[in-house]
Amino acid sequence: MSKEFDVVVIGGGPGGYVAAIRASQLGFNTACIDATSDKDGKASLGGTCLNVGCIPSKALLQSSENYFNAAHHFGDHGISTGTLKMDVAKMLARKQEIITKNTGGIAYLFKKNKVTSFHGVGAFKAKAGDAYVLEAKLADGSVEEITAKHVIIATGSSVRQLPGVTIDNHLVLDNEGALAIPAVPKRLGVIGAGVIGLEMGSVWKRLGSEVTVLEAMPTFLGAADEQVAREAKKFLTKETGLVINTGVKIGEIKTGKKDVTVHWTDVAGTEQVSVFDKLVVAIGRVPNTSGLNADAVGLKLTERGQIDVNDDCQSNLPNVWAIGDVVRGPMLAHKASDEGVAVAERIAGQHPHIDFNNIPWVIYTSPEIAWVGKTEEQLKAAGVEYKKGQFLFSANGRALALGEGKGFVKMLADKTTDRILGVHIVGPFASELIAEAVVAMEFNASSEDIARIVHAHPSLSEALHEAALACDKRGLHS
Ligand code: FAD
Ligand code: NAI
Repeated sequence: MSKEFDVVVIGGGPGGYVAAIRASQLGFNTACIDATSDKDGKASLGGTCLNVGCIPSKALLQSSENYFNAAHHFGDHGISTGTLKMDVAKMLARKQEIITKNTGGIAYLFKKNKVTSFHGVGAFKAKAGDAYVLEAKLADGSVEEITAKHVIIATGSSVRQLPGVTIDNHLVLDNEGALAIPAVPKRLGVIGAGVIGLEMGSVWKRLGSEVTVLEAMPTFLGAADEQVAREAKKFLTKETGLVINTGVKIGEIKTGKKDVTVHWTDVAGTEQVSVFDKLVVAIGRVPNTSGLNADAVGLKLTERGQIDVNDDCQSNLPNVWAIGDVVRGPMLAHKASDEGVAVAERIAGQHPHIDFNNIPWVIYTSPEIAWVGKTEEQLKAAGVEYKKGQFLFSANGRALALGEGKGFVKMLADKTTDRILGVHIVGPFASELIAEAVVAMEFNASSEDIARIVHAHPSLSEALHEAALACDKRGLHS
């Protein structure tokens, strides 16, 4: 017998689980089918983000930062520690506890909001009048037929494979393996100086690995503002100690019994050979659509394999929606969640709006990197006249007290209207500071608005205040 729902979400990551909760809040009889299992084969909701992405990576970044600070910075405070020891197994167990708390939290929220949860792989079977028949192959081996008036696809993404290289998560690792290395490797190679490469490279470098990053593009962090990328590269190489090679071409990769040999050509065209104890491959991610049986209902994909949707996340099929990493736009958890809320509300006849120009980016390295809106390069290319205000954390008292007086805040505002067009931060707690800029931009604030708002003293947020003042050349501490 087919089970019938108003809304069925396929995928229980930050896009899918949030969409399911919101749909249920709006009065729809809602189900979510999610395939992810924990090591015991039990359902583990939360998708890539909670299981093998955002949350575990931040847990390891925190542990490794604590270790690094104890080794290199506690002395500045007059604290001596004796010989430091790193218990990697304990660090990984802590990470796992955090994952379990979070994924269990989603199961609790599903119960609280009366979302029916299916643990298995969901796919289209047929169209039945205005509804869709789905098939869920459940983890216990049974198959469930489910009918849905609305389908929200939130199947996320998986690691992009490097041709000719097998990820075994023993010697050659994707994000899952990089988050679970059982002992600090002496030599760690990372292919791709993107967000995962830099975050994971930082974790293992801080714990003592020699980390070599091999990046194909000649530029570093091409999506970031150039000045921020330059400053970040300086800190990541000089302070964190990552060796970052840009403009490389990866050649043959040979996996031995205990190590991996990578042949590569450097930017000058010289052949190089590096031997690593572990190699992380982080060269981007591809949308998960292969298990959906999209052809059964004529669901259209783009040339890049994403589900083809409009700005409202509607696919080519009536009442079939798609959100998060499986569609266009940045692969970020908060973007996925916001799309999930918006789709549930659209199904309910509401008219939510997402400002795609106002999605914050954060890279959790040390120092952190965060931005929202346009870069200087984008404004120049678009011929927009702008003014710029900048403030260094080295002149911020709180940053100095934290021992984090590096980096800066840069604000870009329209030369004529003074409307804020972009804010770029490299420095302490950039991930938190960027929220003020996001709110300001959402409300079309001017740099003058931020300049006239009282900011607590001493606080890192004063750097944003000063950057706003500097837009009109009236900075008080610079
Ligand atoms: P996912 O989280 O990928 O969830 C999709 C779910 O669908 C999975 O559980 C999958 O098993 C399931 N699924 C797939 N196909 C089927 C099917 N046919 N049937 C049933 N279930 C299916 N983003 C940030 O914003 N901040 C960060 O700090 C951050 N850190 C990251 C760190 C790492 C190491 C990685 C890899 C990613 C990180 N991201 C971060 C990106 C973030 O994880 C993704 O953007 C986000 O998880 C996308 O959410 P989603 O719901 O679209 O998909
Ligand atoms: P990415 O797109 O950030 O970086 C991939 C890098 O690999 C690029 O710099 C690219 O030029 C390089 N590359 C591609 N092919 C290559 C090759 N053959 N040889 C060498 N270099 C090559 O992708 P990444 O790091 O895999 O992360 C995937 C996504 O996950 C990110 O784009 C981001 O959306 C999300 N993420 C977000 C985080 C955050 O918000 N803090 C943290 C981690 C991931």
